[in-house]
Amino acid sequence: MSRETVIVIDFGGQYNQLVARRVRECNVYCEIYSYKTELSRIKEMNPKGIILTGGPNSCYEEGAATCSKELFELGIPVLGLCYGAQLMMHVLGGKVEKAPVREYGKTEVEVENDCVLFENVSKKTICWMSHFDYISKLAPEFRVSAHTADCPVAAAECPEKKLYAIQFHPEVLHTVEGTKMLSNFVYNVCGCAGDWKMDSFVKQSIEAIRQKVGDGKVLCALSGGVDSSVAAVLLSKAIGNQLTCVFVDQGLLRKNEGDEVEAVFGPEGEYDLNFIRVNAQERFYEKLAGVEEPERKRKIIGEEFIRVFEEEAKKIGKVDFLVQGTIYPDVVESGLGGESAVIKSHHNVGGLPDCVDFKEIIEPLRDLFKDEVRKVGLELGIPEYLVFRQPFPGPGLGIRIIGEVNAEKVHIVQDADFIYREEIAKAGLDRDINQYFAALTNMRSVGVMGDERTYDYAVALRAVKTIDFMTAESAEIPWNVLQTVMTRIINEVKGVNRVFYDLTSKPPGTIEFE
Ligand code: XMP
Repeated sequence: MSRETVIVIDFGGQYNQLVARRVRECNVYCEIYSYKTELSRIKEMNPKGIILTGGPNSCYEEGAATCSKELFELGIPVLGLCYGAQLMMHVLGGKVEKAPVREYGKTEVEVENDCVLFENVSKKTICWMSHFDYISKLAPEFRVSAHTADCPVAAAECPEKKLYAIQFHPEVLHTVEGTKMLSNFVYNVCGCAGDWKMDSFVKQSIEAIRQKVGDGKVLCALSGGVDSSVAAVLLSKAIGNQLTCVFVDQGLLRKNEGDEVEAVFGPEGEYDLNFIRVNAQERFYEKLAGVEEPERKRKIIGEEFIRVFEEEAKKIGKVDFLVQGTIYPDVVESGLGGESAVIKSHHNVGGLPDCVDFKEIIEPLRDLFKDEVRKVGLELGIPEYLVFRQPFPGPGLGIRIIGEVNAEKVHIVQDADFIYREEIAKAGLDRDINQYFAALTNMRSVGVMGDERTYDYAVALRAVKTIDFMTAESAEIPWNVLQTVMTRIINEVKGVNRVFYDLTSKPPGTIEFE
């Protein structure tokens, strides 16, 4: 690795990506690897530091995820978090047992000594605990550096060997001074310089893309989402109109979205690229007519997208490179990086590479987390409303209309969603809620409007707070905001006479409706 890097060794805990993100927020590049990664590979990477994550096991049990003793003898600083802390003790000759008192939630931790991890951290500080085992005996040469009322070893250190163990989770924001602790580790223990910054990333990427592409032709499927937009602009800055972007309007976009994307990337926009907009609405509606089953709908939309894209690609002829907006969580979640379960493979736009004649794939955002992609977007001067756009699924409104999709229903949900988004923004809630949208339930019910009986659709409003989109809580929206949205939707959107608010968290619900 030529880049200064800290590596996170993943033992299957739920906050592992968060650890890497926090380290990167300290301007230090960080990658996640499975605990099964060979020691020789880790040595080759020559990281500045290693962080062992939490995990669901008990480290003393047969078959539990583990690491070799040699990992701690490489002379590379190691920080163990939660399970990682216990494992460090266990492997180095300490003892870990079931704790008499299980700790969960915000807990006061008292720092006992001048451990470098706690430099500029309050002596008593609130931290996030989540463990049922505890370190009952330190490994030789370690000393305690913090405790809680119920946990004698909340942190331990062996500074001579640059080994540190923390029982709580500094990566979680509930640990009030957690980022300071991680920053202390990467700067004061690992001696990092902090060279991971998005402005230099942009410069280096542009250079690398130019080198790689030469005078080749590049094709990009542009959805208007954050990732593909940032990828397209990065490419266009690097190679100008050697890039062609194909934007398929499948008739399942949010209100005005097609025109907005065209305004930015099309001929009137400020970028030097070839932009092709394909208005394929009718094709999609025809294919979707009469189809109610969610998985079939997803499949049809995905396949039709590929057909349309393929036809456009054929018109362009042979291209040298195909751009994909893969980002780092995709890499980790598809099992190539860390240890976390493969949960979201269906979310990656699969299948594209097979249908186009090209030499190689370019994935300019492969190393970035979402918040870093957004920073790159701003760095590149992409409008904020595109950069901070909330996630929008590939199958679009197709999975926000329960049951059969048709043009009329698309209009209803587009209009209702537009009003909802407008009111959420007006109320200043748009940056607090991670995803919010209107969906069309397939339910019709009786109502009364202006003395007349109605028999119209019900719209459902959804809003969630989430960190990783794998779990989510429904967001608390002030009653008056919901009422304004309801009134406006019923007054302004023809065909709707009832509005529901969805309280379901994930699990058991999913964020989308289908
Ligand atoms: P679910 O509904 O699975 O959604 O709880 C989690 C997150 O993923 C988005 N999502 C998708 N994104 N293609 C995508 O690109 C898809 O097929 C897809 N399905 C869901 C969803 O909007 C949420 O942010």
